[in-house]
Amino acid sequence: MLIKRAAANDCLPSEITPPEIFARRREFMQFSAAALASGALGALLPSAEAAEKLAGKPSPLSTPESPTPYKHVTGYNNFYEFGTDKEDPAANAHLLQTQPWSVSVEGLVKKPKTFDIDQLVKLAPLEERIYRLRCVEGWSMVIPWVGYSLAALLKQVEPTGSAKYVEFISAVQPENMVGVQRRVLDWPYVEGLRLDEAMHPLTLLTLGLYGEVLPKQNGAPVRITVPWKYGFKSAKSIVKIRLVEKQPLISWEKANPREYGFYSNVNPTVDHPRWSQARERRLGEFTKRETLMFNGYNEVASLYAGMDLRKYF
Ligand code: MTE
Repeated sequence: MLIKRAAANDCLPSEITPPEIFARRREFMQFSAAALASGALGALLPSAEAAEKLAGKPSPLSTPESPTPYKHVTGYNNFYEFGTDKEDPAANAHLLQTQPWSVSVEGLVKKPKTFDIDQLVKLAPLEERIYRLRCVEGWSMVIPWVGYSLAALLKQVEPTGSAKYVEFISAVQPENMVGVQRRVLDWPYVEGLRLDEAMHPLTLLTLGLYGEVLPKQNGAPVRITVPWKYGFKSAKSIVKIRLVEKQPLISWEKANPREYGFYSNVNPTVDHPRWSQARERRLGEFTKRETLMFNGYNEVASLYAGMDLRKYF
């Protein structure tokens, strides 16, 4: 995000085909059934049981918009641990080691605990949440995520009264992550939310997309998705969640405090120094559309009542 680049790839009109999305979902269901029968899914997914759950129940919190084609969702990514070009994560993330994996939830909590992926998958019913993702660079997508509200996980560890913020820490695997060898950011990637933002039902602990476990370039095996904030608030491949009293220093703010703030709510009226935030280009579309306040998730507005969102950008 620190680097200036040309506009996103252009697509052929023939690529804007929402039916492909539904075909793909059907394909996945057929594949799951066949793989379950043959026992092959175990190699791909945390457990055969998880495969059924990843098919996900449609959530009422989903946007009714058509999802962005799978190839954009998994081929046009920001994951600086694997390089700074949009195509780098898809090309390099296969080296990420995701097994075994655990997430420790610690800090100002009564019951700190480390969860492995099977435990996370079973912790709460998985839902398919179709959310908009708006990147600070001016592009956006609609993604059918699979997961459940992060609140379900946080409740397990019982935050104490002094916990005010939640810090998310991504994995660092220097030998597997080509981007980590360059000091573009101070690794590990760190993100944070205020506790009430983290507990908001829209904040998703994400284990999959398009009915599959998360592809590595999208933050396997577990990430956070915060749909009303710019994409960088959604930390990928997390290994630690820490409940803290003071506002955490997030990676982008540390790298460039003039350009990136802690809150980073999608806000068409507050421009980034290098990019207007008034409009956006949905991947797979030609015409730009207006960016909506809080990315259209107006139900979060009360979290910021009385705050000057120019100051707390
Ligand atoms: N998480 C980590 N660990 N490293 C990153 O570089 N990039 C962020 C966010 N999470 C990033 C990250 C940015 S800038 C965006 S826009 C989203 O991931 C992109 O998510 P996606 O590639 O799944 O669309």
